[in-house]
Order: sequence, then C-alpha cells, then structure tokens
Amino acid sequence: MENSKFRIDEPVTSFDGFLKRELEVRKLPSLLTMESGFSVQSKEDWEKRREEIKSLLCREFAGFPCTFPLETEGAVVKTDENAFGGKAVTKTVDVRVKSPFSYVSFPCTVTIPKGMEQAPVFIYLSFTPAIADGLGEEIIDNGFAIASIYYQDVTADRDDDFSSGVARFCKRNSFDSWGKLQMWGWAASRVLDVLLSMSEIDSSRIAVMGHSRLGKAALLAGAMDTRFSLTVSNNSGGGGAAIFRQKTGEHICNLAGKGSRFWFCGNFFQYSNKEEEMPFDQHFLLAMMAGRHLYVCSASEDEWADPTSEFLACAAASEAFVSAGQSGLCCEDRHPEPGEWFYAGEIGYHLRKGTHYLGREDWNHVMNYRRYHQV
Ligand code: GCU
Repeated sequence: MENSKFRIDEPVTSFDGFLKRELEVRKLPSLLTMESGFSVQSKEDWEKRREEIKSLLCREFAGFPCTFPLETEGAVVKTDENAFGGKAVTKTVDVRVKSPFSYVSFPCTVTIPKGMEQAPVFIYLSFTPAIADGLGEEIIDNGFAIASIYYQDVTADRDDDFSSGVARFCKRNSFDSWGKLQMWGWAASRVLDVLLSMSEIDSSRIAVMGHSRLGKAALLAGAMDTRFSLTVSNNSGGGGAAIFRQKTGEHICNLAGKGSRFWFCGNFFQYSNKEEEMPFDQHFLLAMMAGRHLYVCSASEDEWADPTSEFLACAAASEAFVSAGQSGLCCEDRHPEPGEWFYAGEIGYHLRKGTHYLGREDWNHVMNYRRYHQV
C-alpha cells in the first residue's frame, strides 16, 4: 500500500514498463522530433517545436483561425446584482470583435461570486443558454466565477455553408480555413480578452472547459492561446483528447459525416480510414498545453469517445511537459480503474464511472484540481 501510494506521484515518463509498451503498440508519430530531424533537447527547442505543431494542427486538422489584428470590447448590457439568491452578480456581456475588415459580436454571461477579491474563472463553452449548462450555482459556491458562452451564439452547429456568426468573419478556402471547433475555441479567447479588463477576475487563473464536441473546442482554445492557465476537456473523444491510432468507437470517417464535417478543416479528411498516415495524433494537441496545466476527464462507459485512448494521449503528451520543465501525467504504471483520479501532475486526469456526460462529479474533480495546483 505504501509503495502504491508513492507511485501515484511518479511522472509517467519515468516508466519503462506497461504504459510505455501500450504506447509503442499505437505507433504514434514522434512529438519531440523537429521538422529538421533533430530531437528537442531543451525548453527553447520545445518552444520551436510547439510552433511547428501549432501550424501542423491548423493546416491538417482544425484550420487556421483568422490572423487579422483584432480589437475586442465587452459591453455589459444587463446586470443581475442578485444572481443565485444574492450569492453572485451576473453580467450579460456583448462581446464585440473588430478587425480592419470585419465585425462580429456574440453574448456571454459572466457570473462572479460575491465576497471575493479576485475570483479564478472558468470560461465554459455551454451546450445550452443556461449558465454552465445548469450547474452554475455549485461552481459559484466553490468560489469560481463562470463566463458561459452558448456555443450556437458563436456560429450555428450545423452545415450552413459557414454563413452564421463568426464563420462570416473572414474569407475561407476548403483546405485549411478554420472549422467550427476552432471558431468556438476562438470565441473563448475573445471572452478571455474581455475578462482581462475585469478587476473582479484573477487574470492568472483563467481556465477554458467544454464537454464532448465542446471539449474538442476547449482543447483547441488552450492550444492556440497560452493565456489560459488551465485547459479542461470532458469526454472529448475523437478529434479531442483521444489518440486516433487504434482507437475504438468514433474514427475520422465518422467525423466526416454531414453532422460534424464542418467542425474541422477540409484537409483533415484526407486521413479518413488512413489514420496511420497522419503526421500527428491527438497527443500533439494535448502537448500544446505543456508549460501550463491540462485536465482530461474521461468516463468508463463512454466507448464512442474511448477513455483508454484519452488516457494514453495524456501519457504520450507528458514528454512535452518534461521538455517544458514539468512532469506531465503522474500516476501508476497501469490503466486507471473506474472512479480513479490523478491530480499530482500538470496533466490531471480522472475516469468517472458511467457514460458520456458532464456532471457534478466531473466538475468537483476539476475544481479540486484547480485548488490543489492554484491554477
Ligand atoms: C457525437 C460525435 C462526437 C461528439 C459528440 C458530442 O457523438 O460523434 O464526436 O463529441 O457527438 O459532442 O456530443
């Protein structure tokens, strides 16, 4: 028992046994081999490699976000001084983004618990207009502010030929222009722009979080924008935290269907049924958070997402965290049991018992992790 307790804090990269072999079987592309062929040896090398990976993921997976200079303004259009029975203040903010060529706006609600000098915050990509999909009160009670973005307000989640909301912000091509996951993630960054000017928010503790397709979007937000101190994905699966190679459940050919094709850039679908040819896999996406914190939530019966492939992606991404001077995932050299969690490393992880869902248990783990690391 003593021994097993000690092992909980071991960085996964120090293992030479079970998990290492599990990863070898997946035949993953090398995270730390630069395009020049040299290996990453230092923190500086990792920073260069990080830029290479960022371009690769934009070109082959998610599409490039708009690169115009931007100005973001948050106009408070409504204030509820007595949200949740007087425990919090909710501001409805119109997030207005201007470029030299374009303009777009979308709403966001920012709920701040009373009695705190500066609150750490979750920017939450929400499936519904309800604050944090209805769990707002619990989050506030735990001393966190929530900036909730109803994702369909950013751009509609349907194949509308990129004609709604942010999708109209810049011109596009069918190869490497941003898909809608990237747009939802970009919206989280624009909300971050606004939060930086709010004195009630702790600007050093801004997390981005989402579930399922919005977990994929949250990972992209954290990958593209280093101002997020913590990135959280819940049951994000294929195109999110799960390694594609030898994955169960959803594959790229499924994502190519008409209900989700527009989430990605066109180039991504050249790898449909050819996942072994991808120059990256999803551990590249997780590695983008190296130097900061990442938390991946899985559910044991979420076979479509594939919790094992989500866990292995965390293990595989850890070497980037080590290059950045951190430990990455810390656990025992085995797969997690349903109900287990690992908080010790800069990659946190839990495997909730049950199916595809984001509920209290997941939120509580993430909030515990934030308290543990003060992130
Ligand atoms: C579908 C889709 C997944 C996605 C999920 C969701 O199941 O195949 O990729 O994560 O919807 O967002 O709920």
